[in-house]
Amino acid sequence: MEDFMDLCLRRQSCRNFKDQAIEHEKLVKCVEAAHLAPSGCNGQPWSFVVVENPELMEKIAETAQQMGNGFASKARAFFVVVEEHANLMPHVKSLVDSQYFAPGDIGAATAYLCLEAESQGIGTCILGMFDREKVAKLLDIPLEKHICGLIAAGYPVDQTVRKKSRKPLEEIVRFV
Ligand SMILES: Cc1cc2nc3c(=O)[nH]c(=O)nc-3n(C[C@H](O)[C@H](O)[C@H](O)COP(=O)(O)O)c2cc1C
Repeated sequence: MEDFMDLCLRRQSCRNFKDQAIEHEKLVKCVEAAHLAPSGCNGQPWSFVVVENPELMEKIAETAQQMGNGFASKARAFFVVVEEHANLMPHVKSLVDSQYFAPGDIGAATAYLCLEAESQGIGTCILGMFDREKVAKLLDIPLEKHICGLIAAGYPVDQTVRKKSRKPLEEIVRFV
């Protein structure tokens, strides 16, 4: 079994994908991993639309290309991450808004999904820049729902692991 830290080091945003379809079962496994992510009060405020139909994929890619993500046309699948209502426990609800934990929860689920993809040799890139309204219309997602992100996926053209660009550890941690 691969060391978790090695997997974290290997996962990187992939922006060049091979012209090779991703097996449906592998896409399912990615969503299964996201499904296992922790969430505040186990609220699970997420749902996923997996786009694997080539015509639809092209249209989804266009919504990201228009926003500077030209490489999206090379993706061989998209995971569309949608925020859903979190059913918090009454005592928690009396203290915080029902969606209070949602951004963190969705971040965790997205990370689980991308790491599972990586462990199967599939590259991903989380996309925040795309036309949300167009994606909602293409996928029949009610406009009032927040589409948190797209995850472009495909087999990487280049498997070379880049050096990570991160703030120094000392800057972001304090042990007390
Ligand atoms: C919420 C979010 C939105 C992002 N949006 C984009 C995007 O629109 N286009 C893009 O090329 N990368 C996008 N990224 C990828 C980041 O640029 C990338 O994760 C970061 O630079 C660290 O690089 P790494 O993923 O290769 O480790 C996004 C990442 C996150 C988490």
